[in-house]
Amino acid sequence: CLHGSGFATVDPKLSTELPKLFNICSFNSLSPKEDYILDGLKDAMYWPETPTLKSNFSLNDTSDPDHSTFTILPRSKGGNWQVGDQLRVLIRICDFHGHTKRTGGDVLFARLHNSTLHAGVAGHMVDHLNGFYFAVFPLLWEGSAQVTLVHPSEAVTVLHKLTQEQPDRIYFQSHFKLGSISETTTCNVCLNSNQQKLCNYTDIKTGEPWFCYKPKILGCDNRMTHSKGRFRQNINPMEEKLFQSMVNTDLSDLHMFMVHQFNSTAISLCLKGKSIHIYGDSTVRQWYEYLISHSSGPLLALDYVNNILVTFRSHGPPIRFGSSLVSQLQYIANELDRLPGGENTVVVIGIWAHFSTFPIEVYVRRLLNIREAVVRLLTRAPGTLVFLRTANPKEMTLYEALTNSDWFSLQRDKALREIFKGVNVKLVDAWDMVLAHHLPHKLHPQSDIIKNMLDVLLSYVCPLPGNYTRS
Ligand SMILES: *[C@@H]1O[C@H](CO)[C@@H](O)[C@H](O)[C@H]1NC(C)=O
Ligand SMILES: *[C@@H]1O[C@H](CO)[C@@H](O)[C@H](O)[C@H]1NC(C)=O
Ligand SMILES: *[C@@H]1O[C@H](CO)[C@@H](O)[C@H](O)[C@H]1NC(C)=O
Ligand SMILES: *[C@@H]1O[C@H](CO)[C@@H](O)[C@H](O)[C@H]1NC(C)=O
Ligand SMILES: *[C@@H]1O[C@H](CO)[C@@H](O)[C@H](O)[C@H]1NC(C)=O
Repeated sequence: CLHGSGFATVDPKLSTELPKLFNICSFNSLSPKEDYILDGLKDAMYWPETPTLKSNFSLNDTSDPDHSTFTILPRSKGGNWQVGDQLRVLIRICDFHGHTKRTGGDVLFARLHNSTLHAGVAGHMVDHLNGFYFAVFPLLWEGSAQVTLVHPSEAVTVLHKLTQEQPDRIYFQSHFKLGSISETTTCNVCLNSNQQKLCNYTDIKTGEPWFCYKPKILGCDNRMTHSKGRFRQNINPMEEKLFQSMVNTDLSDLHMFMVHQFNSTAISLCLKGKSIHIYGDSTVRQWYEYLISHSSGPLLALDYVNNILVTFRSHGPPIRFGSSLVSQLQYIANELDRLPGGENTVVVIGIWAHFSTFPIEVYVRRLLNIREAVVRLLTRAPGTLVFLRTANPKEMTLYEALTNSDWFSLQRDKALREIFKGVNVKLVDAWDMVLAHHLPHKLHPQSDIIKNMLDVLLSYVCPLPGNYTRS
């Protein structure tokens, strides 16, 4: 890659403000208190300025993985690398002409792996805002580094714009029914219409907003089901090209030295007499399925022999599941309020994948509601173990990028980690576990990775004496 000399034509964008609730979502926005908390999250969710795109922009000026390079920097103290050192990799991002980019904001993942040891670790990325990045790794063993450009910074500009201009690009439906009359209308967190044309299903306890267009004949009370609607894809073909260079990864297994392995017998022993309540989206439903399939009891959520109860409940809307009864739609905060809790209760929460297309406020409000309920639970039943499963990187087709890009997930994941700081919950870092693993990134990670996640969970629930200190 040639050294950047005067003629890259990217103009830095001026504002890095979080997307404001757009027109159609402006009603029922955050309370002053929630708004204040959101303000405090901005540093943690900071993303550098990304290039503005003119309507006639040239792909040649955008980040090109083929022209970009990375170099492992020599050891700062001189001499040979030693285990315990910090390894730094310098990454230079160039455009298709070979010129160094002059702005930051590219979405890069880095990992170090050693296939002999079946070990991998995710790198921490530092953006120098001028086309140069550092990836920093703890050197736990000898290995080789791999860097992936997930999105060029220009694609981030497009994703940012999509959230501002089309926060309703994923929409939902409800089926209304009374006797032989049935009607279907569109639903969302917010709908662009006057109040008379809407059914307001805002949750009284949590204040979580939800609306459907009023059916023509039937009443709002006749709503029977909730289901995913569709995705309106509305980007121009040039912008679409920015999502073509998406790369996949390969290579090795996870190191997790403090974590021990649980076979079926060990799982049953560990969970004997416990209730495990899992709430969230399909990425945490995988945990439920794993536990059920490895339980030695009947293929039910209740293992009579070992007195183990495992439950899963999906989070409230927005949720893109197939049709479900309205009576099944529950907010996690309300569910937690109904839970007695205690030493034999394990709560797992995983909520992220269905919030990507909405302004960050929608997710922040949801997490704040959940946090308050978790605090109430831990106050009345301090022995309860609460786990959060974080987001994870996934495959990036165009559809996935526009609805569920890793960039969206990263922002939301940062919000989740900030919001639950200081609350006695354990994080299961699905992000790093998937990033460091040789298996491909998937929304629903493959079973080897799910096993790793459950081993982490169970290692907390049933620590081996002397092997694990609870923090
Ligand atoms: C991009 O660069 C290539 C080779 O440098 C050139 O042939 C092509 O015309 C350029 N395209 C645009 C839109 O500038
Ligand atoms: C885009 O159009 C502007 C004029 O509107 C022109 O100055 C610029 O060179 C064009 N850029 C490209 C990449 O074609
Ligand atoms: C993996 O680590 C071992 C032990 O540190 C080392 O001998 C080996 O060369 C490493 N392999 C790779 C591919 O880096
Ligand atoms: C919907 O209902 C909630 C709670 O009852 C209320 O606070 C809110 O103002 C209503 N929103 C609209 C747009 O009617
Ligand atoms: C399961 O793991 C335990 C130790 O945790 C071990 O004693 C037992 O032999 C293992 N059982 C099987 C079937 O591998």
